[in-house]
Amino acid sequence: MPETAEKIITVILATNNPDKVKELRPLLENISPLLKVFTLKELGVDIDIEETEETLDGNARLKARAIFNLLSDRFPFLIALADDTGLEVMALNGAPGVYSARFAPMPEGKTPSYQDNVEYLLNCMKGIADRKASFRTVIALKGRIPSGNGSCQFENTSQRVVSGSITIEKQGSEGFGYDPIFLLHSTGKTYAEMSLAEKNKLSHRSLAVQKAIIDLKKILDKQGIPLTDTPTFP
Ligand code: IMP
Repeated sequence: MPETAEKIITVILATNNPDKVKELRPLLENISPLLKVFTLKELGVDIDIEETEETLDGNARLKARAIFNLLSDRFPFLIALADDTGLEVMALNGAPGVYSARFAPMPEGKTPSYQDNVEYLLNCMKGIADRKASFRTVIALKGRIPSGNGSCQFENTSQRVVSGSITIEKQGSEGFGYDPIFLLHSTGKTYAEMSLAEKNKLSHRSLAVQKAIIDLKKILDKQGIPLTDTPTFP
């Protein structure tokens, strides 16, 4: 067996969202020939991690640590990757923020739909002139990677924010979540008025992913782990 085969690093995505997996897998596998990317489902893991922290950073770290601890015994070298995203509205003091998925009040035990959250936010913003808002994504990595003849552990978070505003009413039919009411300043369009390809080039999540990949390359490079020569981003 070649020496490198013993040093395969299993990257575990703490998501089963097919869109996120489609975006992340090629980017991560392009970093180093040693990285092999799996979803929880592909590893036969069915787990629902409760997001109990009060910040996006806290929740992203919590999820990455939980996956790392769960699978630490199964892989000599592994990296768990988790993300958390929130919409922060200035006039609402940063709400819904970390509670973006659960913003609209619902009867006990029910989770609001995207539609419930959008309608509720538009209602909260009725008559408010300052509509500035931003989307923030935090990506957490928790890993154990080869170092000399042994291994070392690391934890890292990367975040990116994009600025925009909340529209008066829904515009566009693409995307999900708050896309129809988030107007991205750099384009003058809501996310829901963009194709997936266009959104993926400039969204909060894609910028955070790009930053996480730059950070991860530096972490791997520091331990002398071979990087793929081809650029990750054209
Ligand atoms: P998550 O951390 O990616 O699960 O995102 C939490 C919540 O933020 C989701 O339930 C959505 O309501 C919202 N959200 C996250 N990303 C986006 C996006 O790209 N567009 C619109 N809403 C989003």
